[in-house]
Amino acid sequence: MLRPADLIAPLFVVDGKGAPEEIRSMPGVFRLNITDLVKECRALARLGVPAVALFPKLDARLKDPEGTRALDEDTLVLRAVRAVKKALPGLTVITDVALDPYTSHGHDGVLTPAGDDVANDRTVGILREMAVLQARAGVDFVAPSDMMDGRVGAIRGALDAAGFTDTGILAYSAKYNSAYYGPFRDAVGSAQAAGTRLLSKATYQMNPANRREALREAALDAAEGADLLMVKPAGAYLDIIRDLRESTDLPLAAYQVSGEYAQLQAAAEKGWLDLRSARDESLLAIRRAGADVILTYFAEAYARDYASRA
Ligand code: PBG
Repeated sequence: MLRPADLIAPLFVVDGKGAPEEIRSMPGVFRLNITDLVKECRALARLGVPAVALFPKLDARLKDPEGTRALDEDTLVLRAVRAVKKALPGLTVITDVALDPYTSHGHDGVLTPAGDDVANDRTVGILREMAVLQARAGVDFVAPSDMMDGRVGAIRGALDAAGFTDTGILAYSAKYNSAYYGPFRDAVGSAQAAGTRLLSKATYQMNPANRREALREAALDAAEGADLLMVKPAGAYLDIIRDLRESTDLPLAAYQVSGEYAQLQAAAEKGWLDLRSARDESLLAIRRAGADVILTYFAEAYARDYASRA
């Protein structure tokens, strides 16, 4: 049984006052300005969806190799958090702690001098500051999503030192280097910024062939102070969800990512699958595998159908 209360809705936010922009590869998903974002959050809360994860889409002109805007106190996502928390203090708000929306090369961190890999420790230093800014803006959970080594402990230390002991950490513990993130990179513009759709994050995201590595990463994140662990993508990694469910007492999240959403939408558009039943089955499978909560772009549609069934 999957209730709207078990879902988290990922939402994309843009600057300005423009109309919602539909994401080409994600029919039914829009980039929203802050006013519309607050309305959307209100609708989700009414439908019983208790949490949202916010992702900013920055104008390409605001990006640079260092991801400077991530540390700007008035950066888009922080303004969005403040607006949502002001209107809906009871809604759980989660933000990504990673540099990809801010870097001109689209990577999750700053690069080494040779430019061929992410500089792990320098990136972690930036993530600590980002997390504190997000906590100050009012988020309930920060979600380090980049798989840099040592980031959870470093962020926990920075949050505690700044007095944000109650701000939780949702750790992307097992984040695979997946082809299923393609549509998301359209949504936040990190693919275009890098000038290629085939941006490789293979040096920091996990190899899809590895199973035990997920257990190791999860154990490290738990030891470093994570409050919730996450597996991503979800549908192609149900075994990993089950493995983690059996190896940790922490609550477990799974992220049904953009490509999982896109493939169901595309098949349904062609009339090859029944969207609603394939959607529900895909979510139920993730739940059955052991996820306590699911991030899904279907959150609102699922909650609407749930309400009309009840
Ligand atoms: C990046 C991030 C990604 C997603 C969430 N945070 C993409 C990536 O790693 O390139 C993907 C989510 C999705 O595909 O829905 N920090």
